[in-house]
Amino acid sequence: MIGRAADRDRLSRLLDDVRDGRSQALIVHGEAGVGKTTLLEYLLQQAADCQQVRVQAVESEVELAYAALHQLCTPMLPVLEQLPDPQRAAPQLAASADDPAPPPDRRRRTPRRSRADRPRG
Ligand SMILES: Nc1ncnc2c1ncn2[C@@H]1O[C@H](COP(=O)(O)OP(=O)(O)OP(=O)(O)O)[C@@H](O)[C@H]1O
Ligand SMILES: [Mg+2]
Repeated sequence: MIGRAADRDRLSRLLDDVRDGRSQALIVHGEAGVGKTTLLEYLLQQAADCQQVRVQAVESEVELAYAALHQLCTPMLPVLEQLPDPQRAAPQLAASADDPAPPPDRRRRTPRRSRADRPRG
């Protein structure tokens, strides 16, 4: 990767915080082709010793409540019991086999497709 020293420093600080047990969230945004994926690949390389989970959002899932969260949380179900109650509730809801109520910004007048209708593959 060429340049991006300030961005790499920012990512290094974020990783330091994570390794010290402080949760972090980061939104990487910018115009198409500006280098977002390259920066994130760099971060993943630097965090090779950390557990990594990747989620790919796809447009066809727009009507499925919590679709990306479901992808994110399902592999973690075995360790959910170690979480305190409040932190356990959200991933359990997302991973539930039940069809949870959609979040407020996804409520529609037409019936929603259930997760069982989700395309496979
Ligand atoms: N710092 C960099 N040094 C060298 N090459 C870079 C750098 N950043 C990006 N590139 C190259 O530029 C191209 C676009 O980068 P990248 O795919 O990371 O952009 P993006 O913001 O994720 O694009 P998109 O919005 O389409 O997802 C790639 O070929 C990548 O290798
Ligand atoms: Mg990209």
